[in-house]
Amino acid sequence: MSVEQRPEIEALMAESRTFPPDPAFSARANAQPPLYEEAERDFEAFWARLARERLSWSKPFETTLEWELPFAKWFVGGELNVSYNCIDRHVENGLGDKVAYHWIGEPGDTRTITYADLLAEVSRAANALRELGVEKGDRVAIYMPMIPELPIAMLACARLGAPHTVVFGGFSAEALSGRINDAEAKVVITADGGWRRGKPAELKPAVDEALRETPTIEKVLVVRRLGDRATQCPMQAGRDVWWDEIVPRQPPDCPPVPVESEHLLYLLYTSGTTAKPKGIVHTTAGYLLGTSFTHEMIFDVKPDDVYWCAADVGWVTGHSYIVYGPLANATTGVLYEGTPDTPDWSRWWQIVEDYKVTILYTAPTAIRAHMKQGPQYAEGHDLSSLRVLGSVGEPINPEAWLWYHEHVGGGTAPIVDTWWQTETGMIMITPLPGVTTTKPGSATFPFPGVDADVVDGEGNPVPLGGGGYLVLKRPWPAMLRGIYGDPERYRETYWSRFPGMYFAGDGAKRDGDGYLWLLGRVDDVMNVSGHRISTTEVESALVSHPAVAEAAVVGGSDAVTGQAIIAFVIVKVGIEPTKELGTELREHVATKISPIAKPKSIMLTPDLPKTRSGKIMRRLLRDIAEGRALGDTTTLADATVVETIRQNSGKSED
Ligand code: WTA
Repeated sequence: MSVEQRPEIEALMAESRTFPPDPAFSARANAQPPLYEEAERDFEAFWARLARERLSWSKPFETTLEWELPFAKWFVGGELNVSYNCIDRHVENGLGDKVAYHWIGEPGDTRTITYADLLAEVSRAANALRELGVEKGDRVAIYMPMIPELPIAMLACARLGAPHTVVFGGFSAEALSGRINDAEAKVVITADGGWRRGKPAELKPAVDEALRETPTIEKVLVVRRLGDRATQCPMQAGRDVWWDEIVPRQPPDCPPVPVESEHLLYLLYTSGTTAKPKGIVHTTAGYLLGTSFTHEMIFDVKPDDVYWCAADVGWVTGHSYIVYGPLANATTGVLYEGTPDTPDWSRWWQIVEDYKVTILYTAPTAIRAHMKQGPQYAEGHDLSSLRVLGSVGEPINPEAWLWYHEHVGGGTAPIVDTWWQTETGMIMITPLPGVTTTKPGSATFPFPGVDADVVDGEGNPVPLGGGGYLVLKRPWPAMLRGIYGDPERYRETYWSRFPGMYFAGDGAKRDGDGYLWLLGRVDDVMNVSGHRISTTEVESALVSHPAVAEAAVVGGSDAVTGQAIIAFVIVKVGIEPTKELGTELREHVATKISPIAKPKSIMLTPDLPKTRSGKIMRRLLRDIAEGRALGDTTTLADATVVETIRQNSGKSED
């Protein structure tokens, strides 16, 4: 592996503007500079203090950290319940009438859910799950649109100590069954569908298909969202139960089940460098502490803020910063079901204006999509309530940063560019608003208590100004505890490249002032619109098609989605490489994985560039995909192959 010198990164690092904090903001900021010093003095004592102050324990912990590299246990001996920490204690503190979520359906229907409502709903849902046979430790799969029942279902599971695994509603039946089987889930919670781009998007048919191959599933709980608009929602007797037939008749109280600090809270599957997604393990106390503390500091959340994280709950950003972190902080949040362009591109700005949103957290790909439409949509709305803006999911290019700053943040709201991963559970590298002077495109510095470094191929720290691999050098409370059922893969994937350090899979540079600049993945993982997709996963979906002999997939750069999936496919002898075949292959990938994994372009080619040992030369394919001058081709088995591909590329683009 080598860190590539990408021209866009070089351009990014030449960005010289700096944005110091506004003194008025600093004076009231939640985060203050001494936090860094306290955390550096003794990071375990720092997290222990916060765990005692911030979490409500039914039994206090005895040991802050047991660290047997790479296995961590935080707050050992303690017991607590996440649902209690996210709901009950706020109601007990007199915040029952405070809004937990302003929910907005895509067609324009709305719901307001207070903390008292949430307590009643979560308790009823937990009682219903219990009636369906769910006990502490049983796994529950959740496959839902962005409706209030999604966080309610997660919290109901947490209330019972039943780990959930949320599968993003855009995933295919096959992806769903794979995750259900790996987790050995007992129950699925789903919906007849949701609204997307003005149309009903049905979900239950995919569940029915997935469930043909999932022996562990006993019951399916189905929320009615589309009602009459759902055309295919047959209910299988004895297995499928409507949410509105079982949940509302339950008593609105359900004692939260105390669990140990290290009890499994959830699994979330993410793409790695192989075809099989990894079940990332997150546990209870450390995760809740890490997400809630970072949320309060990084977004400067105050009691009267209206916070909107525009991610889908199905990704880790939604788990940590729509559900667990914000609710533990008794925050008022916005939850929006649909897409930013429905009915038109002013939808988000209308929501900000209507709900007086003060904090907005989104992804660079969304900002670039808005940029492409022009600033008139944002400018047509009163966005003056916004006071903090966040970015996550991929490196934010300075143009997008500046557009966000100017057209959304009114030139004043600080931007926090937050680097983290499904695995880290919480934000790890970020500015602190009111404290950090930002530079557009840089995620700046590690969060207090986090030890991040940039190392060379031998694991030695690179000097200021140098580039290398991003590593984390000490455990943190929200860190993944492993890969579900596969401790060896956990060790191998994250802890073997640089002994004693967590290797994130990202390249990074540190400039002369010590600022961190993320350079994207250095492994075979692509980042498309902030979604992690493995090249291998797409390749294996392609070769599972009967017409395909071999496939190689690379990420090419794309002005809106960051990266775009480019596939090179060799068809079997006797198969005609037609444009129709290209379309069919793209659809095939959508059904195998998800529409988000559909290659943007497929090049049907007679051969692929390989090294003498038979390894596909992805670097060359990337060059071809991006129309760049070819690098050194001398290690090719057949140097003419690349030329042939290059000549054919574009022609077979779909
Ligand atoms: C990338 C999303 C640059 C990175 C929370 C990481 C980023 C992967 C940033 C994790 C950022 C995330 N700047 N790159 N601010 N945030 N990434 O697991 O490559 O879906 O490894 O978690 O996204 O993606 P994941």
